[in-house]
Amino acid sequence: MEFEEMLDKLAGRMAAGRLIKATISGPRRKSEGLQRIRLKPVELHGELHVQFEYQYERILKHENIPADQARDELGRLLREFRQMQASFTGEDIQILMSKKLKVSWKADQTNKEAADDLSHNRKKQYLLEEGTPYPFLVRLGVQTPDGKVKKGKMDKFRQINRFTEFIDDSLRHLPQDRTIRILDFGSGKSYLTFALYHYLKIEQKLDVLVTGLDLKKEVIEDCRQIAADLGYGDSLEFLVGDINDYNDETQVDMVVTLHACDVATDAALGRAVRWGAEVILSVPCCQHELFNQLDAPELGVMLQHGLIKERFAALATDSIRAELLELAGYDAQLLEFIDMAHTPKNIMIRAYRTGRKPGEDQIQRYKQFRDLLGADPFLERELSGRLANVLD
Ligand SMILES: C[S@@+](CC[C@H](N)C(=O)[O-])C[C@H]1O[C@@H](n2cnc3c(N)ncnc32)[C@H](O)[C@@H]1O
Repeated sequence: MEFEEMLDKLAGRMAAGRLIKATISGPRRKSEGLQRIRLKPVELHGELHVQFEYQYERILKHENIPADQARDELGRLLREFRQMQASFTGEDIQILMSKKLKVSWKADQTNKEAADDLSHNRKKQYLLEEGTPYPFLVRLGVQTPDGKVKKGKMDKFRQINRFTEFIDDSLRHLPQDRTIRILDFGSGKSYLTFALYHYLKIEQKLDVLVTGLDLKKEVIEDCRQIAADLGYGDSLEFLVGDINDYNDETQVDMVVTLHACDVATDAALGRAVRWGAEVILSVPCCQHELFNQLDAPELGVMLQHGLIKERFAALATDSIRAELLELAGYDAQLLEFIDMAHTPKNIMIRAYRTGRKPGEDQIQRYKQFRDLLGADPFLERELSGRLANVLD
């Protein structure tokens, strides 16, 4: 079969909504870094898209392309790779491509059906379902006793749900042979801390110890009372304290933060790295530190505008955080937390420990960026001992 004919066939099936899943693998040039691409259908804003998930050695990237416009991207990728496996409704297809782009196309009939609901990650969005009353959400005023999400609480409900989804995705990184130690720093009213306990201990029946820590004594006392009233046992505790002074642990497996203000996020990340936590999930907010440090005449065109400067500072702060985590031996990604339409605080820092040493290129890249901005990041200072050999 000719290459163009193959593209027509694949693109036609995708446009017709028949894609179930596909993988493109076998890069012709390893040096490009892109190892494989997974494809799946997603529905965005009511329109069918193909999601391309690009797997590089250390990062994943995603792009959603309308299903009837996927041909160009497919063509670009298939010229660079040797094989593709695809499941469409009714058939599985195995494709091999020679150097000269001669195509071997092998199709097997199946009775697989396309997913009938393609809303983006639908299953996971509903780890906590609307209509099901969860005692902690009722008690925290997010749900009514019959499980309806209260007016004005939908954003909170979405945040908790989405965070739980990230936690679910991270379970494979956590130990299975002992109590999983989890800290929620800056837990506040502790919606997330309760959700963690509910999902991991009650639903997944895992052996966990979850701690929420916050500066506010009264709020923490309320949380303790709620936990006691709900009969939650020793696996959930609430502590009053400052993240900056919290050094009591030796073994922590997962550190989470949700909107821990400004450098409180960095204090939490610093501790997580020092403890060697396997999983870090952190949704920052109010990134002020860099805004006050920014000194980059080269970026004057942007930074002369207060609005742009503020947004730039926030994005640069999270980029610096992710890069420092990479330098400290983590696979760090910045992912969309909640759709922009619901909150501007929409970046999740997700980091899994690898223990990998950074390359010289990466170290230089970080230093150049930091110096370009005139930045003196709190997190770098927090990690100074750990990064001494790396950044000197
Ligand atoms: C915006 S609230 C978020 C609360 C909660 N995580 C949530 O999402 O509902 C930020 C919380 O971080 C706490 N916080 C800020 N700095 C802190 C620090 N250094 N140590 C402990 N808690 C801190 C505040 O007291 C506040 O409760």
